[in-house]
Amino acid sequence: MKASKVTIHTLQKMKERGEKIAMLTAYDATFARLLDEAGADVLLVGDSLGMVVQGHDTTLPVTLDEIAYHCRAVVRGTRRAHVVGDMPFMSYQASYEQGVTNAGKLMKEGACHSVKLEGGAVHAELVHRLVAAGIPVMGHIGLTPQSYHQLGGFKVQGRDVGGRERLLSDARTLEEAGVYSIVLEAIPADIAREITESVAVPTIGIGAGTKCDGQVLVSYDALGMDESFKPRFVRRYETLGAKIKEAVAHYVADVRAGAFPSDAESFSVAENKATPSTMDAPYSSAGKK
Ligand code: KIV
Repeated sequence: MKASKVTIHTLQKMKERGEKIAMLTAYDATFARLLDEAGADVLLVGDSLGMVVQGHDTTLPVTLDEIAYHCRAVVRGTRRAHVVGDMPFMSYQASYEQGVTNAGKLMKEGACHSVKLEGGAVHAELVHRLVAAGIPVMGHIGLTPQSYHQLGGFKVQGRDVGGRERLLSDARTLEEAGVYSIVLEAIPADIAREITESVAVPTIGIGAGTKCDGQVLVSYDALGMDESFKPRFVRRYETLGAKIKEAVAHYVADVRAGAFPSDAESFSVAENKATPSTMDAPYSSAGKK
């Protein structure tokens, strides 16, 4: 049976019914297929790819073309989940025209289903224009990694004087401007709860406590790809980094010992060419539906 697609309306209904939304980041078709088949509701092609895929220290160097490239791959691997394309640093901050043009480009070239942008009330007018153009927008407040240098690092937000009021006001202003959902990143749990109760759109938390309408994690963190990275807000559901290294060490040892490939993993002239097997395909095809 064909899985029905998750839309922004599905997510709104989930909030109204009190059903939690499960969101993860995805950057390629293989991971997208696995996360989608496992039931993730939303896949975010986050600019976190600058750090976990490209190896940068921050998300700042990521370009719009790179996000669009990864979006296309993720969409190809996805059947059910809603795919969000992250607007990277300086793709929307310079002017409303720039923001609308680039969000449109991401929807057209990345084939994503909505866009996400960082920042509060300062982007209300842009959100309004995007929604008027038919582009659904996910907001993102609290720790906004694109402001890394302004914030002085990846730090919990909202603990300063006026922080709570500012976050609440940002969330309400974004809601009025038309966002369909808001990511709350690295803020105290009680402020996240208050925001979640005071806006009608779903909130998705990361390091924002238990009371948000949904949760998001960087999939590489949730799966334990980097053994040295374990901040408090991350729960590791696997230790894939260690498992991948173990498997690869096994492969290397087999190659060095001449134990791979075996005769059964090799071809011979005598085999019946009339019945080619799927083994003849050079690689597996992640995105095949
Ligand atoms: O880029 C990203 O992965 C994000 C999430 C952490 C919310 O913005």
